[in-house]
Amino acid sequence: MERQDHRLPAQPDVPPPAARVALVTGGNRGIGREIARQLSRMGMTVLIGCRDPEKGEAAAEELAREGAPVRPEVLDVASRSSVDALMERVKATYGRLDVLVNNAAVLLDRGVPVLEVEEGVVRQTLETNFFGPLRLIQAAVPLMRKHRYGRIVNVSSGLGTYQAFELLPELKGQSGAYRLSKSLLNYLTCLAAKEVDGRDIKINAVCPGSVRTDMGGPDAPLSAEEGADTAVWLATVDADGPNGGFFRYREKAEW
Ligand SMILES: NC(=O)c1ccc[n+]([C@@H]2O[C@H](COP(=O)([O-])OP(=O)(O)OC[C@H]3O[C@@H](n4cnc5c(N)ncnc54)[C@H](OP(=O)(O)O)[C@@H]3O)[C@@H](O)[C@H]2O)c1
Repeated sequence: MERQDHRLPAQPDVPPPAARVALVTGGNRGIGREIARQLSRMGMTVLIGCRDPEKGEAAAEELAREGAPVRPEVLDVASRSSVDALMERVKATYGRLDVLVNNAAVLLDRGVPVLEVEEGVVRQTLETNFFGPLRLIQAAVPLMRKHRYGRIVNVSSGLGTYQAFELLPELKGQSGAYRLSKSLLNYLTCLAAKEVDGRDIKINAVCPGSVRTDMGGPDAPLSAEEGADTAVWLATVDADGPNGGFFRYREKAEW
């Protein structure tokens, strides 16, 4: 009789950085550009998803001069057809996607209370900040499952947490649409993380802290390099790393 092998299937080898393909949305400026720079410096093939091709080319030229080559790709995360087209190109060109960083976001209602924000602004914010990541996660996970490796990082914000009411009471009545979008992104992270195996494929969320970018403003305490650190860490954690968590400064944070 044939002998049964009851051992678990061998874990696939974690692909070396040089074999990994990463996509960073909103990679032409701010924290996304810095995440792309750091992943490229590790040797990964890094695609920066940019809605404006000229901005993408300009960022790629700048990053190449800094010794961090990246490939600009046209991507408007608020558009289903744009996401589908990019994912088709990724499949055809690379056949894999190892790292997805959902970084692109808009803050359209700074200072506007949720009781006053226009419905259209809420919808526009959700299209980019929530539906964008949802579309990309749905497209990326099947590809990651094929080669049994994937790291998804959702760049969220402490403003989307219940903690913000206690920790940042001065922000009461501000940015209602943005905060709703980030709370949905946080919950999406929890839900989606439960649907992947959590070892080969991991989905986590990060709050970068308050970072000096166009969105964060010139007086924010953290540099883009500091703001990118936790996202890059989560994008490269090994099989024993976390799944379904929310992190700030490489430490678990409360939702
Ligand atoms: N900075 C902070 O203090 C802070 C704090 C907490 C959380 N965050 C989060 O960190 C992430 C990065 O923020 P940041 O400060 O670097 O912001 P940023 O400087 O405003 O950059 C945002 C990036 O997202 C892109 N983007 C916006 N809508 C897009 C779309 N529909 N499709 C593709 N790309 C799009 C922008 O592209 P364009 O150049 O074409 O506009 C830009 O590249 C965001 O998720 C943000 O919510 C930031």
